[in-house]
Amino acid sequence: MGHYSAITGWGMNVPEKILTNADLERIVDTSDEWITSRTGIKERHVISPGESTSTLSIAAARQALERAGLEGKDLDLIIVATVSPDYRFPSTANLVQHALGAQCGAFDMQAACSGFLYAVSVAHQFIVNGTAKHALVIGVEVLSQVIDYKDRATCVLFGDGAGAVILSASDEPGGLLGFTIGSDGARPELLWIPTGGSKEPATEETIRERRNFVQMQGAEVFKFATRIMGTAMEEALANAGMTAADMDLFIPHQANLRIIEAASKRLNLPSEKVFVNIEKYGNTSAAAIPIALCEAIDQGRVYPGAHLGMVAFGGGLTWAAAVVKWTAPIRTLERLQESLPEQAVEPAQPVHVG
Ligand code: ACO
Repeated sequence: MGHYSAITGWGMNVPEKILTNADLERIVDTSDEWITSRTGIKERHVISPGESTSTLSIAAARQALERAGLEGKDLDLIIVATVSPDYRFPSTANLVQHALGAQCGAFDMQAACSGFLYAVSVAHQFIVNGTAKHALVIGVEVLSQVIDYKDRATCVLFGDGAGAVILSASDEPGGLLGFTIGSDGARPELLWIPTGGSKEPATEETIRERRNFVQMQGAEVFKFATRIMGTAMEEALANAGMTAADMDLFIPHQANLRIIEAASKRLNLPSEKVFVNIEKYGNTSAAAIPIALCEAIDQGRVYPGAHLGMVAFGGGLTWAAAVVKWTAPIRTLERLQESLPEQAVEPAQPVHVG
């Protein structure tokens, strides 16, 4: 087995149903102008009956397996990062394992919006110590079911979706080169769901007070986020022996365009090196980075040899960052299905955003 863990497969899935800012204008006292100027969000996807965290996860995982040229039975580990699982237990990872026909250990972990990068850092350990050859890591949320659609301060921000990657053992230098994970649990109430756990079980009263939904002190989280995105990214880069200037593409957590712009400024990155898709999905928490990665690949902004920087922050408070040197050939699903040759490996022309 190799000494490196490389991303060899990737996939995403979002529900078909779209909730636009105009739709929200009809639900709460808000406006497209406010949401767009304060957050950059125009629309988000939300589940319909029959869809759930596990169905989105399974669809994203199947794409990732196909791109990696693997089947479920080839997996040695499944980690699902989510704060919005199908059930308190069993874990969503159990459901995914069964649906994929995998025969390996599977567990959920949560570090809120930082969950996907946390899970990647865990899977990396299994790979580099030789315990696993192929690990499936999913970031997924169905936040529409835990959002208070009477609270305009939160309901405009969040959406549903799933993104997945396969990490595989490799001898080729590259893959995950450095990462950092962090936690500051001093003030859980900055971003939480107070009711429904062991400390405050759901009762008629707590549900009447709407404490079973996400509550957030937005301005405090905003301050924390603008600081931590830059410092965490710099820490992961330093662990990889790199600086921000060495990044070819920055894929930050998609929580608020203003937070992304502040972090990019701190890291001195031109906009063409920054990936943004928040306008289409809102904040999908643990799913945001893997969805953004998939779309960056589709847009030709990821290529073999590219150095990607990813950073997230979220409830906890938590944060995590990772640096990946991309090594896999870019495989589009259409090409795989039609057995066409893989895409050329030359870097695509940068696309200007913002
Ligand atoms: N529509 C219209 N007005 C609104 C809305 C809305 N949807 N929401 C709040 N307002 C009002 C407020 O009531 C306030 O009015 P007031 O001045 O009369 O009191 C005014 O707009 C300004 O509110 P602020 O909170 O100061 O607005 P701000 O510019 O800070 O933006 C926001 C709020 C977008 C929530 C911002 O603070 C933010 O993005 N914070 C970070 C949130 C975040 O990233 N959370 C996710 C973390 S990741 C995870 O783990 C899930």
